[in-house]
Amino acid sequence: MKVLVLGPGGREHALALALSRDPSVSEVHAAPGNPGIAEVATLHEVDALDGAAVAALAVDLGVDLVVVGPEAPLVAGVADAVREAGVSCFGPSREAARLEGSKAFAKDVMAAAGVPTAMARVCTTPEQVAEALDAFGAPYVVKDDGLAAGKGVVVTDDREAALAHGSACERVVVEEFLDGPEVSLFAVTDGTTVYALQPAQDFKRIGDGDTGPNTGGMGAYTPLSWAPEGLVAEVLERVLQPTVDEMARRGTPFVGLLYAGLALTARGVRVVEFNARFGDPETQPLLALLDSPLAPLLRAAAEGRLDEVDPPRWRPGAGVAVVMASAGYPASSSSGDVITVGALPEGVDVVHAGTARRGDDLVTAGGRVLAVTATGADLEAAREAAYAGVAAVSFAGAQHRTDIAAGLGAPPA
Ligand code: AMP
Ligand code: GLY
Repeated sequence: MKVLVLGPGGREHALALALSRDPSVSEVHAAPGNPGIAEVATLHEVDALDGAAVAALAVDLGVDLVVVGPEAPLVAGVADAVREAGVSCFGPSREAARLEGSKAFAKDVMAAAGVPTAMARVCTTPEQVAEALDAFGAPYVVKDDGLAAGKGVVVTDDREAALAHGSACERVVVEEFLDGPEVSLFAVTDGTTVYALQPAQDFKRIGDGDTGPNTGGMGAYTPLSWAPEGLVAEVLERVLQPTVDEMARRGTPFVGLLYAGLALTARGVRVVEFNARFGDPETQPLLALLDSPLAPLLRAAAEGRLDEVDPPRWRPGAGVAVVMASAGYPASSSSGDVITVGALPEGVDVVHAGTARRGDDLVTAGGRVLAVTATGADLEAAREAAYAGVAAVSFAGAQHRTDIAAGLGAPPA
């Protein structure tokens, strides 16, 4: 089978790596890709937001499957264009991707499907925002309705700051604060059948001990030894399946990866957000632990016959990814710092995100530069291997957290 992976980042490198290790895959293509992806796939230049161009590339290459990585092309309708050209596509339609593209839409679907989530109000004026803030009380949660690349959400005790964010956006969702550890639970679906992956957790803040500003994610691990037994079954039954069923009922089936961001609160599981694609960096350790082949799973989902393949199987043990970011991240980023990668321990992958080639050098080209990803017999072994990998990588100004997946016998606070 020939597969085209669309996207430039770490998630796409993890997908391309897993596909390149899948015996049923004969060719992996990627667009636009990055220098890490170039080691396992043939790169092509294309505007990832241009559905017609992506569809034409897929047809030209004769691929059997397109896997769309990031949310922006999905929200732009690229999966629709690929399917219209007769090529199987793993990734939701423009309409279904609204589950990620619009917070208000996601709330509407959850309400219709009876999915537990934070109480929320959609506001379009500063007066409505003020009223909603006072109704829910502090800490305040104000979310830009549209796609904001992770920058649209403000969680604060400062009422003025919450109001200011509310007034800066055209339409916001103000919601109840959810207290409790966060879990990322992904599901592969063909619009009817739903297979959950192993739960994972990411570390959103830049600094050790969850300090400093939010980032796209500084590390992740799977599985969660501390998670309550039955969590996956409960989320499948109360969140994932009802959401997929509601999307089908509306005539806009969700085909692809449904990412449930969950908070495990004292009152039970609540959805914090949905995403319409694999999470980054959770995908790196998840796919490193996947035992069953990836391509047949994604293709069966894309072709509406997920029930014909077995649910994903996982290797025992654990996976850990530690992100290395460039100087200045997350406020800014530094480009052009030369990256050196020394000898890596067995089973450790350097998964590229913001990297580029400059002559013979590998250099930084973004905030999150790469994720050192490792597996091990248990979480501690995977963590040790990942940090041994981090020690082998260097570039000027490199930042990484030292506490990814550390001391996790109990849920993180
Ligand atoms: P979102 O883009 O909706 O995932 O929000 C980004 C981050 O803000 C989440 O991962 C949470 O850490 C935090 N957050 C979002 N909504 C809430 C909420 N209702 N209560 C507490 N934290 C939240
Ligand atoms: N890990 C967070 C995200 O992918 O949105």
